[in-house]
Amino acid sequence: MKKLNIGLVGAGFMGKAHVVGYSNMPKLFWPAPAMPVFKTVCDIVPEIAEEAKERFGFERCCTDWHDIVNDPEIDVVSICTPNNAHAEVAIAALEAGKHVICEKPIASKLEDAKAMAEAAKVAADKGIVSMNAYQYRRVPAIDLAKKFIDEGSIGKILNIRCTYLQSWSADPDSPLSWRFQKDIAGAGTLGDITSHVIDIAQYLAGDIDEVVSMMQTYIKERPVQEGGVDLLGTVKLGADAPRQEVDVDDENSFLVKFKSGAVGSIEATRNAWGRNNFITIELHGTEGSLAFNYERLNELQVCFAKDPDDRRGFKTIYTGPAHFHGEATWNIPGMNIGYGELKAIEMYEFVKAIAEGYQPSTSFEVGYRIERVCEAVAESAENKKWEKVRD
Ligand SMILES: NC(=O)c1ccc[n+]([C@@H]2O[C@H](COP(=O)([O-])OP(=O)(O)OC[C@H]3O[C@@H](n4cnc5c(N)ncnc54)[C@H](O)[C@@H]3O)[C@@H](O)[C@H]2O)c1
Repeated sequence: MKKLNIGLVGAGFMGKAHVVGYSNMPKLFWPAPAMPVFKTVCDIVPEIAEEAKERFGFERCCTDWHDIVNDPEIDVVSICTPNNAHAEVAIAALEAGKHVICEKPIASKLEDAKAMAEAAKVAADKGIVSMNAYQYRRVPAIDLAKKFIDEGSIGKILNIRCTYLQSWSADPDSPLSWRFQKDIAGAGTLGDITSHVIDIAQYLAGDIDEVVSMMQTYIKERPVQEGGVDLLGTVKLGADAPRQEVDVDDENSFLVKFKSGAVGSIEATRNAWGRNNFITIELHGTEGSLAFNYERLNELQVCFAKDPDDRRGFKTIYTGPAHFHGEATWNIPGMNIGYGELKAIEMYEFVKAIAEGYQPSTSFEVGYRIERVCEAVAESAENKKWEKVRD
């Protein structure tokens, strides 16, 4: 079986998720399209690089990503660094002939996202695969929603409403990690979580054409933390800790018009106590409705207008063997997948694309378009008027 030597750059939260994804992929999907081999892990912090080597089973570790990109043995580069450290690594890796999976948002600046999409296009002509890690569209229940839409089961989509609500940083004493710093993250909630629901919305309902938005930063300063790793709300610093300004949004909400004529709304916030990974999508069409909530990720709610009046209403489909990747994941409906399996599905899609020589659906071009939607959202909040998404 073909082997793929993996180089991982950035060994924090998402670095672990990529390793779990690669490790579980052949255990779930067999025969695997290729076998991942954990070759080199890179982290700018030497102790994190050393620990990741031992913990995740890499053969080598380093602190400079050039060592991975310049290594002829490496086939695949997984980029799991903060947003401002995606573009340079991705473009260099593509130019060196490596297949690349890069975490989302694709970049911290629009011009970097554009350069990455262009580099991916040039590389694609040479058979090099690139992918942006928008994994939520790969939840089997979302793919089932897409199937119902494509088959016409809910008719023409009229409206769609989406939310991404979280609370891990709702406490003002949770530290000022890189996610709250514009020069590293590029944007706050908008790039970090809204981007995910923009991806799902465009996957299901087509391209967004125009937006009108509001953006807020309720928590205007946070305690300064040691080190560059985001502790994702697991640590609270006391009232006497030195604080610095948060220069990105922690909440945004906007109305959307799709190119298809459908309309809708998207909201995201980090200030929703009781909500954790509350990604919801509800679509209404001329022939029915679909609703999904990631906190119940193995379920899709469906309602069909054609059902008789006395029994029409939402019913729950539990995803399992009858659905997408159901032959590979856990084969009891309702216990189908969790987050680890979702990352394995993503790695399967990536490795299969490499083995079979095509570009995955979450291309760098898709990542760049999401950034253009985010640009329009930010401009609309500033200008207080509808803004068109750049073509
Ligand atoms: N797909 C998703 O749902 C999802 C979820 C969380 C994070 N992310 C994305 O993943 C990326 C990483 O986020 P995270 O939560 O893992 O952050 P993190 O802070 O947990 O980890 C980042 C790691 O990168 C290292 N690093 C920083 N600069 C580096 C460089 N130049 N070279 C090598 N290593 C470097 C840091 O030391 C740290 O260990 C971000 O782009 C983030 O938006 C995606």
